[in-house]
This record gives sequence, structure tokens and C-alpha cells, in this order.
Amino acid sequence: MSRLVIVSNRIADLNNEPVQQGGLAVALVDALRERGGVWFGWNGEIGDRKEEAHVEQHGSITQISLSLTKKDYSEYYLGYANGVLWPLFHYRLDLVRYRSSHFSGYNRVNRKFAAALMPHLKFDDIIWAQDYHLITFARSLRNLGCRQRIGFFLHIPFPPPDLLAASSNHAELVQALMAYDVIGMQTFLDVNNFKRYLTDHTDAEVLENGDVRIGRRTIKVERFPIGMDVEAFGEMSQRITDDVAVDIKRREVLGRKQIIGVDRLDYSKGLPSRVKAFGRMLAKYPEMEKAVTFLQIAPPTREAVDAYSDIRDEMEALTGSVNGKYSDFNWTPIRYIHRSVPRNKLAALFRASQAGFVTPLRDGMNLVAKEYVAAQNPEAPGVLVLSQFAGAAEEMQEALIVNPYDIDEMADKLYAALTMPLNERKERHRALLEKIKRFDAKAWLVGFLKILEGGVEPVPKLP
Ligand code: G6P
Repeated sequence: MSRLVIVSNRIADLNNEPVQQGGLAVALVDALRERGGVWFGWNGEIGDRKEEAHVEQHGSITQISLSLTKKDYSEYYLGYANGVLWPLFHYRLDLVRYRSSHFSGYNRVNRKFAAALMPHLKFDDIIWAQDYHLITFARSLRNLGCRQRIGFFLHIPFPPPDLLAASSNHAELVQALMAYDVIGMQTFLDVNNFKRYLTDHTDAEVLENGDVRIGRRTIKVERFPIGMDVEAFGEMSQRITDDVAVDIKRREVLGRKQIIGVDRLDYSKGLPSRVKAFGRMLAKYPEMEKAVTFLQIAPPTREAVDAYSDIRDEMEALTGSVNGKYSDFNWTPIRYIHRSVPRNKLAALFRASQAGFVTPLRDGMNLVAKEYVAAQNPEAPGVLVLSQFAGAAEEMQEALIVNPYDIDEMADKLYAALTMPLNERKERHRALLEKIKRFDAKAWLVGFLKILEGGVEPVPKLP
């Protein structure tokens, strides 16, 4: 079996339990262990010393990492990946801050990654790049003579053609993407957006079987909805830590339910509207006062990008205002935690919460929605309230689906979730659990690799 080479901006911490890092890391590390392979990427360090790539062996996995210079970090990571691609791909043209130097920096780092990986490649390796940081990576590898098969998976949404076309360099970006052999996306909507772009803006032809033909090359573009390790997470949710156990007891005595939200503090997650919807529910259904607490965990992320500090200020003001209005000496309606919480505690907190409130304005998949379902006790499950704009909503229709722009609807559905009869909760949960088991992390990985390994002929040279 040929080696698998995973390339991602952030590398998994192979000294840590992968289950602590999420379903994706578990699946990828398992696959690498099984067949042997390489994990390549940024080591998270920023330094101006010129250093060689650092190589570490962990059993059958070779980890190769390198640091970024301050300029790389600011142009490639903050500037282009998170100042242009992230907002653009989440349909937020208003937040795009384009500078041509950032795009050059993005391409430079992709070339730097390619040059650092190239000497470590074997002729029959298969290479799999992850996410929007690496759109031009395959082009850089090809320019160095790489003929191996290279796949790409986009973890975030792909925007509609008109939005993409409004950004600078869209043509070059998509052209570079075509140096991959297989392009995976989360949903049918993303695949359709991409193919519509190709039809409207390029010479590429979308064939009847769904493949894309460009010049002499044929590229597979498919939907592979990402999943998680349902069993491992379910087990973890039952290993309740003492502090969570005490909190559960306390709420039992008080007859108080809990709503939970867990998201990086990102503007795409719809957090301000979520807080407003919770406040609206308290206003519309006064019997909910003291009967429920909303626990929102929102760890900091990408704070050097302006849009992220703005959302932080907004959240602090909003939670403060709802709490100021409704709190009593013995009840705080919203517990807002702007720190990260270990995954085992999150799993236990999901299980201890009667509603999961997941309302992104736009999201590639949203694994929190799946984790919430995986953590429930099937005999007394909580209810998932899910945005129609999360990729997960394409599969998870048995959740209470909401429009995150409609505060009233969210308030009503949240109330419906908290008052739903046990039978209906069990039925919905059973259907959702079955789906997330079917499309779990392993299925995602196996499905993608099967297509990537499918083509045996060497890749023709790019013109
Ligand atoms: C999203 C992206 C990932 C990214 C993660 C954390 O899930 O799809 O590629 O790694 O956010 O963001 P960060 O900028 O801290 O890597």
C-alpha cells in the first residue's frame, strides 16, 4: 500500500491523545498509523531564524513541520487565509480585507511548503492537502515536478460564483486549485457552487458523470460530508468529572435545564443572534426564567484579525445586557466562557444539556452539532437546534432547523426543544445518531481515499 502524506496548516499533536483533538485528527492519525505516512505542516511557531524543516518519527508516522516567519504569518495566515478566504468563503464580502501583498505571501508560503515537502516524497505516495490555507499548494508541487496524485479537501463552504467573482484573484485561485486530482467538499451546495463557477467563469467542462475536464486533465469533484468518531465521543461523554457531576446535581435539585453552545469566537458562528434569541425566549416565555441556563463556551481565535476583536466586544455587551436584565441573586441566565475547555469536559457538558444550540450564519459542516448528538443518553436525549446554513443541516434534518437571521423563530424553536415530549426527543435522536454513525470520520476518510487512489495512471504534466 502506498504511503499517505497529509498536509495541513496545523499539524496534529502526536504526543497527545488524538481523541482530545477531535474526530478529524483521530481518523487521519489512525489512517497514517495503519498504512504508514507523513503529516506535514506548520509547527505553530513564528520566528525569523532560517530553519530547516523539523522531522520527527512517531512509530509509522513521520511528522515534518516548519515554522513561519512574522511576514509569512501576517501575510499568509492572518492576511490572505483569514482576512480574505475565510470571510469570502463564508459569504461575508463585507469583511474581506484584500491586499495584493497578502496574496503574494499566501503563494510564497504555499511554495515554501511544497519545496520543504518535495525531498521527502516517494514516487508512489498519495498526497492529501487539507483546507483553504492550501489552495495553491498542488500547483506549487507540480511546478517542482511532482507527478503523484494529490487530493484536496475544503473544510469550509465554497461560495456561490457571483460572490467568488467579486474577489480579486478568483481566476488564479481556481486555476491553481485545478492542479489537484480530487477535490472534496462538505455538501452538495458547495459542489454545485464550485461547478457553477467553473461553467460560468472558466473553460473547464463539467462532464455528465460529474467529473471536471480541463485541457487534458480530468478532476474528480465530490461531496464527502465530514464526520466524527461517534463511539469514542459517546464513551467520553459518560466519564463525567466531579465538577460537572456536582453541577448536574445542583440543577436537578433546582429543576433547571441547560442549553449549550460551543464555538470558536468567530463571526461566522452567529453568536450575537444566538444570545438575542435566548433573551427573546425569556421575554416571550416568562416561565423559562430560572428554569434554564444558557452555557456558551467560545474560546478565543485569530484575535489579530479586526473582525474577531469586534465580535468579542459585541458578545460581551450582549451577554452583559441579557444577564443584567434577568439575573437574580441565585440565577445567572447566561454563562459565557471565553476560554477553551478540554474535550472530555465538553463531552460531559453536552450530555448534561437538554438543548444543543448551533446557529452559524454559514458553516462548512459543524462537528459540534454531531458531537452534541453523539454525547446524548439515548434514553433521555436532549434536542439539537440547528441552523439551516450549517453544512450539517443537509444530513441532520431531524434536528429543529432554524434560520439564524430570524430571532423570533429561534426563540420559539428553543422553547419547543426545552419542552419537547420524551418520545419525540428519542425518535429524533435515534434518526440523527444513525446518520452520524453512517457518515462518521472513518467513512469520510475511506470514501475520499478510495477516489484519490482510484486513478492509477500518472498525472500528465501541467501546461
Ligand atoms: C476551522 C478551519 C480549520 C482551522 C480551525 C481553527 O475549523 O476549517 O482549518 O484549523 O478552524 O482555526 P485556526 O486558524 O486556529 O487554525
